[in-house]
Amino acid sequence: MKVLSVKAHSREYEIVIEKDFSHLGEKVKGVFHGKLLAVYDQNTHPLFADEIKKELSHVELLEFILPAGEETKSIQNYAKLLSFLAENGFTRKDGILAVGGGVIGDLCGFVASTYMRGIAYLACPTTLLSCVDSSVGGKTAVNLAEGKNLVGAFYAPSLVYVSLSSLSTLPQREVECGFGEIVKYAFLDREVSEGDIKRGITEEIILKCLNIKKRFVENDEFDKGERAKLNLGHTFGHAVESLSYYNYSHGLCVAKGIDKIIDISCKYYGYGEDKREQFKGLLSSVDFALSIDYSRQDLLDKIKIDKKAESGAVSLVLIKEIGNTEVVKMPLDKLEELI
Ligand SMILES: NC(=O)c1ccc[n+]([C@@H]2O[C@H](COP(=O)([O-])OP(=O)(O)OC[C@H]3O[C@@H](n4cnc5c(N)ncnc54)[C@H](O)[C@@H]3O)[C@@H](O)[C@H]2O)c1
Repeated sequence: MKVLSVKAHSREYEIVIEKDFSHLGEKVKGVFHGKLLAVYDQNTHPLFADEIKKELSHVELLEFILPAGEETKSIQNYAKLLSFLAENGFTRKDGILAVGGGVIGDLCGFVASTYMRGIAYLACPTTLLSCVDSSVGGKTAVNLAEGKNLVGAFYAPSLVYVSLSSLSTLPQREVECGFGEIVKYAFLDREVSEGDIKRGITEEIILKCLNIKKRFVENDEFDKGERAKLNLGHTFGHAVESLSYYNYSHGLCVAKGIDKIIDISCKYYGYGEDKREQFKGLLSSVDFALSIDYSRQDLLDKIKIDKKAESGAVSLVLIKEIGNTEVVKMPLDKLEELI
């Protein structure tokens, strides 16, 4: 078992990385003693509910199953979960356990942050993306018809429990999705190397990514500065994701976004071909099709309506060196010139 302790400003909590769910019971006991609502989606319930029920046999455990997919992160499901908690007499000493990817995690975290002004939130992330990224850091949210993640709160979990065996059932698209975020960590911090990435899903790489995320969260829990660097590749990534009508996985779009940022960074800092090759070499450790099939104008139009394009400028995370990135407020006309 590996345990990381996140000392965030709002709360200190453990991230447990274990081969299976066999220590979930003892870890839950360590943080809380009330009853628990375990929330699954339709894919994670058949895979993990029996095991979790067995491990949490000492806990009064209720279940709630939602459809899989981004649409689940809605105000309607948020309200349904709140009503379910109230109907079943949940009080401030009780809690909610998310078993799934970032969708279930973001939704449950937001429910936990607001039900009775805050109840315990525990997470068993089961996608690679949620293990290395979304389950840690306390960003919770639901979507509105007007846009993604428009309603949410910062609310740190009381426990994050990663069962490595749960990742063995992931479809290839979800593995790819996780590696898009993992290669991002490799650009942010040299702790994750090309070799680590080439070895695939290992405890070591998950631990390294979580360590990097932990440091960002401890230094800037409420996203006022340094944490913005975790958006590397995301400005172009979100534009491509939206132009593809979400046919490409989020992680693939992040990798395509990083590819664009490499070109822009090299022009911005005046780097030569050697540096560009070095950056592209690291990115190619994930075997993704990196070309972007959309025009420069389509990308710029999307970026302009992105929430980051404020007063004619966009915040971009640029790569100075591998392991050294910088947030640059770039005027849109300058971006047009560099893209
Ligand atoms: N809070 C944050 O800091 C943060 C960071 C990044 C992304 N996010 C959010 O995370 C969400 C995306 O999360 P995601 O990529 O985990 O997607 P997801 O939660 O939609 O899961 C992807 C698919 O994998 C299935 N699945 C989950 N675990 C499985 C398993 N072990 N085996 C087989 N199938 C499994 C799910 O049912 C779903 O169909 C987005 O809403 C995004 O906004 C949040």
